[in-house]
Amino acid sequence: MRILIIGSGGREHALAWKLGQSREKPDILVAPGNGGTALEARNADLPSGGVDRLMEFIREHKVDFVIPGTELPLVNGIADACARAGVLCFGPAAYAARLEGSKSFAKEVMREAGVPTADFAVFNDYAAAEKYARGRKRPLAVKADGLAAGKGVVMAAGAEDAVAALRGMMLEKRFGPAGETVVIEDALTGEEVSLLAVCREEALVLLPAARDHKRALDGDNGPNTGGMGAYSPAPVLPESRMEEIADLVLRPVLKTMKKRGVPYSGVLYAGLMLTADGPRALEFNVRFGDPECQALLMRFKGDLLELLIDCASGRLNDARGTAGKAHPPQAAGCGSGRPGNTLPRTGSTRPSALALNGLQACAGPADSGVCSPLWTDETALCVVMAAEGYPGEYRKGMTIGGIDEAEAGVPGKIKIFHAGTVAEQGRIRASGGRVLGVTALGADLREAQERAYAAVAGIRLERAFFRRDIGDGGLRAFK
Ligand code: AMP
Ligand code: GLY
Repeated sequence: MRILIIGSGGREHALAWKLGQSREKPDILVAPGNGGTALEARNADLPSGGVDRLMEFIREHKVDFVIPGTELPLVNGIADACARAGVLCFGPAAYAARLEGSKSFAKEVMREAGVPTADFAVFNDYAAAEKYARGRKRPLAVKADGLAAGKGVVMAAGAEDAVAALRGMMLEKRFGPAGETVVIEDALTGEEVSLLAVCREEALVLLPAARDHKRALDGDNGPNTGGMGAYSPAPVLPESRMEEIADLVLRPVLKTMKKRGVPYSGVLYAGLMLTADGPRALEFNVRFGDPECQALLMRFKGDLLELLIDCASGRLNDARGTAGKAHPPQAAGCGSGRPGNTLPRTGSTRPSALALNGLQACAGPADSGVCSPLWTDETALCVVMAAEGYPGEYRKGMTIGGIDEAEAGVPGKIKIFHAGTVAEQGRIRASGGRVLGVTALGADLREAQERAYAAVAGIRLERAFFRRDIGDGGLRAFK
């Protein structure tokens, strides 16, 4: 089977790495990829010119399964085009991808679905937006409606900050057309956490909770970035609460998309704020988070390709009736009698993903009865090493050293995922803002943190910057 992963970040390297471990032994193309995917898969130039050119590429290269890592191809309709061409694709149709592609659309869906979220208003007109922001008299989140690489949200402590953000977006067009419409939202306080699920229609497979760190600087200061580090599990969202949150936030959205005639398919990622008044949805994404994906896949022991194929092909939904409700992601004992532990009989030689359902995978053929947990109990923690200047203008071209030695430091427990890198004549050079995702597994959060930072210390990347407090919030939660 030939797979095409679209994207060039740490998430795409993690996907290529984990998919490469599948029993299917797929041939993996990554477009455009990075220095890491060049070593672990095959890179290809991503054709410019939109979905039509991409479909030509998919036909020319005889791709069987398309996995967009990033949101842009999904928002542009790659899943719809693949469906028309009879090519399997992991991810939602363009209409549903607007959950990420348009913040006002996402808020409207949340309102219809009854998902708890911050109070908000949507504006196309600058004067009206300014009037609202001045009148609200409280901290606000000002959001460009369209895609802005995770940087289109400005937290405004007071009216002046909010007005400056509105000017930047609506008048100076800092984010281009993405900022012509804005969402102004009340700022919430609490603990942030990411809950991701692989979904098909109304069936979902919950992944363990993960904690991202969006701000550039220690102590959650500085501008928002794509994400500076992550860990999983996240002590703020214990497994015992995950079903409740899925009922509150994920299932209503799946139901609403189905009601609108575009059933959801792919990853549904809810960015949540756990406030004193209960959980609130901040945003939805329609793909794996970056760097959450690196931490999550480090813990995943199942066959990722099977899970993604089951989702894209509809098997996940077919298995629903047999397997019952989704379960939290930790392993239950083999044959513990919970509904999810019964392998649905779908005539295949392997269990459907819903039987795996985050609980257990069959290490052998479905009927062999050899089961093992799908997720390791260990904690994974990823520290992003970025180029000086990120998320603004940053330096490029620096040579990177020490990667192999860092991975060898604790064999099997450290993985350096490449993001903004290129491989040139045997050398790895920095080429992007987020350069590496240094990821470690440990028996607990503290050990994962120690191992990740020890690995960071061994990497040679001139004038790198990274947060020194990834995991500290989680450690405080234990106290
Ligand atoms: P979004 O892309 O909407 O998730 O926003 C990016 C980041 O901005 C989130 O991960 C939060 O850290 C922050 N954020 C967004 N909306 C709010 C809000 N209403 N209150 C507090 N923080 C927010
Ligand atoms: N880490 C946040 C995101 O992927 O959007």
